[in-house]
Formats: sequence, structure tokens, C-alpha cells
Amino acid sequence: MSALLGDMEPAEAESVYFNEYPPPKALPKHEALARAFIDLHVADNRRVVLVTSGGTTVPLEAQTVRFIDNFSAGTRGATSAEYFLQEGYAVIFLHRQYSLLPYSRHYSHSTNCFLDFMDEAAPAADSPNAHGSIQVRSEYQDEMRDVLRKYRYAKQNNRLLLLPFTTVAEYMFELRSLAKLMRPLGPNALFYLAAAVSDFFIPRHRMAEHKIQSSEIPANLENNSALDSEEIYTGENETQPPKNSKKLVVNLDPVPKFLHRLVDGWAPEGSMVVSFKLETDPSLLVYKARTALQRYSHHLVIGNLLSTRKWEVVFITPDPPHERWLRVPKARRSKSISGMEDQVGLAEIMKGKGEEHPSQM
Ligand code: PMT
Repeated sequence: MSALLGDMEPAEAESVYFNEYPPPKALPKHEALARAFIDLHVADNRRVVLVTSGGTTVPLEAQTVRFIDNFSAGTRGATSAEYFLQEGYAVIFLHRQYSLLPYSRHYSHSTNCFLDFMDEAAPAADSPNAHGSIQVRSEYQDEMRDVLRKYRYAKQNNRLLLLPFTTVAEYMFELRSLAKLMRPLGPNALFYLAAAVSDFFIPRHRMAEHKIQSSEIPANLENNSALDSEEIYTGENETQPPKNSKKLVVNLDPVPKFLHRLVDGWAPEGSMVVSFKLETDPSLLVYKARTALQRYSHHLVIGNLLSTRKWEVVFITPDPPHERWLRVPKARRSKSISGMEDQVGLAEIMKGKGEEHPSQM
């Protein structure tokens, strides 16, 4: 059945894929939060962007001990969300649980732990045994005040809704529900799909329920070829794990590309859809981004390479100039005080602050 998912019409692939899984437990709660958030901003005629961020996982077991992950720290999504908020958007931030978040990202990364920004003040002179109060070190005060004010503003004015996902199936359920809930926004809705979404998965009906067992290799199996023939298969119906095993062979099916359904079915009429294309081979990037734009007929594909993603992106659009490179100037690539590098942010790019280059790498 699922071997054919990639060959099905998008609407059929949707119904087969979503029938495979029960909806995530958190979905009803997330839908209620999103509905209230969207209603509020529809009433205020405010633009709302759904930013997706972080990598999706593909579990190998239903009671998951092991999983395959997609690369993404959440820097692009969290940084872009801050720019959208600055531009007056309300942001639904659909993110991988524990990945970087808008504002707190400045102080939550492993290389810029918030504790490094703190000091204990000296106790008062008349009570030398008392504890001093915890304070932000003087050199970080200005930057932290700025971040704190923006964070508080977003929170107090209901501009930011944080919704977590972990697996690719959870991501798909959340994306579909949120897109449909955003329909009353019409052209005030924007989709900014920066999450790194798995292209392969193990269908639920072929997944092991419990932790896959790796048995001890018996002492009498010293011959390598004999060891190589002992394999555990996951994602297969017909193969039972052999008793003594060495290899784990994983058999994955393609995840349907739901960008199609988002553009043609789920998203509101007149909304804008921006997708990202990640590649590692520079010679493929523009071609793959163009192909995605043609295939899904949306508004913008932002291409980036894994190795240079923090400094340069390419915009692929249906209208001229079709291909536009934007690069953060070298002088601004230095680390900020908080240690988090600046990034290409969409709102900033749209205002033309990036450094443009003709169509070459
Ligand atoms: O978070 P950072 O560390 O800063 O990294 C940011 C980033 C490199 C992850 C980000 O800038 C980025 O490129 N995100 C998209 C990665 C990705 O999923 O690329 P893709 O080529 O696999 O998919 C292209 C598009 O198809 C995506 O918009 C995705 O939403 C969509 N897709 C993907 C898989 C799938 N099964 N269905 C989809 O619709």
C-alpha cells in the first residue's frame, strides 16, 4: 500500500497517509489555542505568518527509543520569526520541541548559556554574610534589555504562539490543521516553511511496537561472512528479527510532498506560501529550487546550502528576476555580543537590506 504513496494523486496520498496514524494527542489543544489566536488577529485585520522550524523525526519503533532526525537547529525559523514580529506580523511558531525559539535563542544555545551572562553582586557592606542578588553582567545589559523588551511586547500583546512537534507525522497533522484554521485570514495569511521535513518514513502498520533488540553475538560466530548474514529488518512485514543479529536494515517509504496539498487545498485563498530548499551540492540548488516552484506553483522558494546557509540564500520566484542572491555582508557576519551569529531574515531581505549579487555562487 504505502509503496505506492509517491505515485498517488496528492489528495489520495493525503487520505492514505493521514489514515495511517492517530492524530497527535496535543492536536485538539493546539487547535483550540490556534483558533483563539487567529480569531484575535482576524478581528484586528493583522497579518499572521505560520513559521515552521526545526527538524522532524522518523521513529523506528512505536514506543520510540530510536529515531532518524533531519538536520535543523531552528536558527532560521526562530530568527525569521523575530523579524516577522518586528514587521507587525503575529507569528504561529510550529517548531521541533526543544529547538531554538524566538528571543530565548539568544541565551539558550550551548555556546551561549544564559549563566555566562550572569554575576552575583557583592553583598551589602553591613551584612557581609548575606547573598548578593543575581544580575546581568554590565557588558550584556543593553542587548539583553532590547531582547527582553521585544519578547515581553510579543507575549503581552498575544503576537506569538508556540506550538511544538517531534515526529514527521505530528508535523503533517499540525500543518494541515493550522492551514485550515487560517482560512478566515485570506490574503493576510503567510506560510514560511523553514522546518527540515523528512522525505522518508516507516509506515505505522510496519513499525516495530517495542524497542528493536540487538542480541549478543554468540562466541562461536567468528567468521565475518556468517555475522554479515545475521540481520534485523525494520519496516518489513514479512521478516522476523533473527535471534542472533548484527545489522539493522531499515526500509523506508517516501513521505508524500504535502506542499501540493497546502497550496491547492489547505491554505486560504490568496495566501502566500514560501518554502525552503536545502541542498549540499551547489550545482543542484537552483535547479532543485526552480523545479519545486514549478511543481507546486507557490510564490517563493528560498534556496540554501548547508555550508553557507547563515550568510547566503537564493530567492527563486515565478516573476523576473526569477533568481536573486542575497548575502549578509562580511562585516555583519561577526558574532553578536550574545554569541549568536546574525542571519539572513526574510523581513530584512524584503526591505532590501541584504547585499545582492548576480546569479553566481
Ligand atoms: O534551523 P537551521 O539550523 O538554521 O537550518 C535551516 C534550514 C537549513 C533547515 C532551512 O533553511 C531549510 O532549508 N529548511 C528546509 C529543509 C527541507 O526540508 O528541504 P527539502 O528540500 O527536504 O524540502 C523542500 C520543501 O518541501 C520544504 O519546504 C518542505 O516543507 C517540503 N516538504 C518536504 C518533505 C515532505 N515530505 N513534504 C514537503 O512538503
